[in-house]
Amino acid sequence: MFDLTKIKKKNICLIGLMGSGKSIIGKELSKYLDLRFFDSDKAIEDETKKSINSIFQEEGELYFRNLEERICLELLRYENCIISLGGGSIINSKIRESIKKNSYSIYLNVNIKNLLIRVKKSNKRPLLYQNKNNEEILTNLFKDRQKFYEKADFIVNNNNDKYKVINEIKNKLRSYAK
Ligand code: S3P
Repeated sequence: MFDLTKIKKKNICLIGLMGSGKSIIGKELSKYLDLRFFDSDKAIEDETKKSINSIFQEEGELYFRNLEERICLELLRYENCIISLGGGSIINSKIRESIKKNSYSIYLNVNIKNLLIRVKKSNKRPLLYQNKNNEEILTNLFKDRQKFYEKADFIVNNNNDKYKVINEIKNKLRSYAK
């Protein structure tokens, strides 16, 4: 198991826009580092027994953001794990404070063109609707969130090969352990 005390943190969290690969990279990385994996959207779906889409549709975005705050703050207290945080969670100042305190944060930076291709197939992104201008929506979300994402402890581009990204993260973490 990767020894997180070497980086003086409880856990590792992955941040970035929807479609940036937080869950895929997080799961792979958790195998390599022998750490448990959690996903805030999945935890919300498990607790409410509803999909992210139905929560947005039936209860509205504010209700979702409150749930997201509580669940993310719970997860961020966990030790020895990797946490994929929903893309919008970074707009919440309590979540940002908790990340700073407990987590080694990794921002997966992906260009909008690639994000658009990746989110096309998903049914858990209620902020992106069919027939709307998803490019414009993603660009605006990025403008609002970029300043927060870029405060991460480590920033890595995830536009191409996921194994390259995993290696970059592994090497970075190993450099602290020396
Ligand atoms: C959202 C991102 C989604 C999900 C919800 C809202 C956002 O998570 O929480 O659709 O505001 O960017 P992912 O980033 O895991 O797709």
